[in-house]
Amino acid sequence: MSADIIDGKAFSEKVKARVAAQVEILKNQSNLTPGLAVVLVGEDPASQVYVRNKNRSTVAAGMKSEEIKLPASALQEEVLAVVNRLNEDPTIHGILVQLPLPEQVDEMAILDAIDPAKDVDGFHVVNTGRQAVGLPAMVPCTPLGCIMMLKDRIGDLSGLNAVVVGRSNIVGKPMANLLLAENCTVTIAHSRTRNLPEVCKAADILIAAVGRPKMIEGDWVKPGATVIDVGINRIPAEEGKTRLVGDVDFAAVKEVAGAITPVPGGVGPMTIACLLANTVTAACRIAEIEEPRIT
Ligand code: GUN
Repeated sequence: MSADIIDGKAFSEKVKARVAAQVEILKNQSNLTPGLAVVLVGEDPASQVYVRNKNRSTVAAGMKSEEIKLPASALQEEVLAVVNRLNEDPTIHGILVQLPLPEQVDEMAILDAIDPAKDVDGFHVVNTGRQAVGLPAMVPCTPLGCIMMLKDRIGDLSGLNAVVVGRSNIVGKPMANLLLAENCTVTIAHSRTRNLPEVCKAADILIAAVGRPKMIEGDWVKPGATVIDVGINRIPAEEGKTRLVGDVDFAAVKEVAGAITPVPGGVGPMTIACLLANTVTAACRIAEIEEPRIT
């Protein structure tokens, strides 16, 4: 039997519509327009596409959007100066510095300089720590989107076996924490894990976040499992073109899994929707007003 396809695009449109409704209420009732600033250093083509999409979605949701572009040659101090200015700007509630940064810029130092209250990426160690101990925190957008899709599909995740393949700070580790907070039994697997196919096969929920095209094979997956593919890999296709594939061998795994996210159209659109949602959350916390609830 073929798995259900989890439509991240359609789900993200619902989340974006909810955010837009919240923004409308905040503008009318509290005279508050949430603002998101995105900082792009250099001209990486994939980053340029992401930043353009973020900008467009922010404006579409009724929020203020600021895009700051610096040349690839920008020095650490120049990037820090931009972050410091945005930290002080009362019209900006979310700051995102697009990664990767050029090698002369120390990524950790830049992330550390962002006001944790405006850290809509959830990458600051203050937010990482707060999330780990269960305090209110800004949560990284990609894992947040994955949890939303899982809860929408499964409902209560309590007691389920979740395996996260990948241990990055951006996805793997925060993903594991979020699953733990939902009372899953969580395993983090990585490049040194022994018997990886067997470990994956024990998963009711399998999250692939390694950045290796089609690594997860059909016989690594438990029949009926829910598979979330975080990978976005560009591989050569016919006639000198390229195409996007995930970390999961989609054609093989969809014959085994109960549900699966496609690439593209799965996790990717949810990440931007969660960034907008995080910006509203940050704006409300900074203004010390309750976040509007949309039912
Ligand atoms: N580069 C790729 N994904 C991301 C992301 O989620 N946030 C930031 N800041 N940079 C990225």
